[in-house]
Amino acid sequence: MCGIVGYLGPSKAASVLVSELKCLEYRGYDSAGVAVIEGGRLKVLKAAGKLANLENLLKERAPEATVGIGHTRWATHGAPTDLNAHPHTDENGMVAVVHNGIIENFGELKDELIAKGYKFSSDTDTEVVAHLVSHYYGETKDMLKAVMKLVTRLKGIYALGIVNRDVANTIYAVNHHYSLTVGLGNHENFLASDSIAVRQYTNQTLRLDQSEIAVITPDTVKLYSFEGKESTRPPIVSESTRFVVDKGDYKHFLHKEIDEQPSVLRQTLAKYLPDINKPIAFHKPKSKGGNGNGHHVATHGIELTNSQIRELERVQVLACGTAYHAGMIGKYIIEELTGIPVDVEIASEIRGRKLLVNQRTLTVAVSQSGETADTLAAITEAKRIGSYVLGITNRPDSHLAQIVPNLIVTECGIEVSVAATKTYIAQLLSFYLLAIFLAEERGAIDAEKSRTLKKTLNLMPALQEAVLAQEPLIQEAAINYSSAVDMVFVGRGFNYPTALEGALKLKELSYIHASGYAAGELKHGPIAVLDEKVPVVAVVVPGVVYEKTLSNAQEAKARHAKMIAVAVEGDKEVEKLFDTVLRIPPIEEFFSPLLTVIPLQLFSYFVAEALGKDVDQPRNLAKSVTVE
Ligand code: AGP
Repeated sequence: MCGIVGYLGPSKAASVLVSELKCLEYRGYDSAGVAVIEGGRLKVLKAAGKLANLENLLKERAPEATVGIGHTRWATHGAPTDLNAHPHTDENGMVAVVHNGIIENFGELKDELIAKGYKFSSDTDTEVVAHLVSHYYGETKDMLKAVMKLVTRLKGIYALGIVNRDVANTIYAVNHHYSLTVGLGNHENFLASDSIAVRQYTNQTLRLDQSEIAVITPDTVKLYSFEGKESTRPPIVSESTRFVVDKGDYKHFLHKEIDEQPSVLRQTLAKYLPDINKPIAFHKPKSKGGNGNGHHVATHGIELTNSQIRELERVQVLACGTAYHAGMIGKYIIEELTGIPVDVEIASEIRGRKLLVNQRTLTVAVSQSGETADTLAAITEAKRIGSYVLGITNRPDSHLAQIVPNLIVTECGIEVSVAATKTYIAQLLSFYLLAIFLAEERGAIDAEKSRTLKKTLNLMPALQEAVLAQEPLIQEAAINYSSAVDMVFVGRGFNYPTALEGALKLKELSYIHASGYAAGELKHGPIAVLDEKVPVVAVVVPGVVYEKTLSNAQEAKARHAKMIAVAVEGDKEVEKLFDTVLRIPPIEEFFSPLLTVIPLQLFSYFVAEALGKDVDQPRNLAKSVTVE
């Protein structure tokens, strides 16, 4: 989704801004632009489409400026056109603004500004900000005061980068319940909505607090509350290596990330399950956190005591999209091992509703980006009510990681492809580990059972490798079915969410319409859509729902649907019923979701590839959904 960047220093701003924007490309966008201050004038260059279009413009007009802001836009208010691309300026070309988030009261503000004689040239909510801050600058002749007045008028959650040609060596950055990071360099400073964009230049960063303004020059960063109170804090010094956007020998990040899943499991297991004879390593060390210089850094681990865990009455999972599917499987796993009732909600469905959690609930937010607006809003509400809150993410630098005292950080790094694959597997593993952890703490499983579960988890990376080795057969099947216009995915029990995830992957990547259902639900309605043109994918793994799933598949077959199974090696029964069988190694039903999703990921990938789709950045999608 939208990305903000900024630069001030000795280098040419445009090239730094473009290289920062490149790091944000993976988040999804449909136009890009920069504004630089050159010779006391604002120069704005922007273009719909990929960053390459902006780069071409910059080649033609090569600005020499050393101060600027930039943006990748994911359209919300107005189509993805040159005109609606950011930065936006006021009529006089005095200020330029880049913006993430939504200004909820922009209609009201726009009417007010039009009545004052301001003319608008775009459909965006952002243009209101440019006119308004310019108006207040006209009144106060002091840009900081103008920005402070501006924030009293804006409703919504947002982040802004603003430059004013009168204050040539300064960027004003505003964060309101969003995400903005300042990267501190040597006589140069950087700004970005995702820290990975500044980490290519510096390992010292300042993350803006929830309602904070930063006044940034090449040598200074001053922080102010919205009320004007100045504060200071030391930077976060990161030790981890910088994020490199590199596909290696792969054609697509998606393919690379699917193949990385066994190593994601290995690394996360090494971190949280170093020894199967010991408890899951979730307990937080007793220290207060921090990085030694007084600034809070998100530290992973769970700080609930044994008696708090024993007294838990419910678990509430909150997430969106693929993370929601991981949460659905999490429910089955936790309930099976601990007996604690688990509810899973799509985070956006919490808006405007009563969230029924209390001091005996553990509320779990799951998010690969850690920036999903609906998930953040829902977990913040759970925390306010007094529930214990836990985050599961691969981004320890994310907003989610900052606001939860209990945190599981999966070891899969940053996922570049917009469609989630390895982060999903990491989230699933987190639920297995969490369930074993809770069960151990509550005495719900004995030491032998716990050891057996952990032993099986350790086998999973190798079993995943065996699934990945089936790639050529899966590719062949995908090509055969790539002309379908509609597909149905079914599964039961632990693999009902797998069916939902399989359908989501196919939709996202290939744009083929696909729906996922609990197999038992087929005859309650969806079966009406089936005929010889609608292939059905069924996940059929031996276990308590195996026969029933096969019966449901029979029902589909009787409607002449072409049948594809994800089934275990050696299962002869499926061969009688299915036209195509994608194989996984024999596995207990309980652990099977860690394997069954892989053929579905690869299937969707190869269908999309066969259709020539933009696999890593599917149309209309964003990696980080920061609007509600
Ligand atoms: C998955 O492939 C998605 N593109 C999407 O559904 C995603 O899982 C969802 O937007 C939630 O994102 P998060 O994990 O960053 O919170």
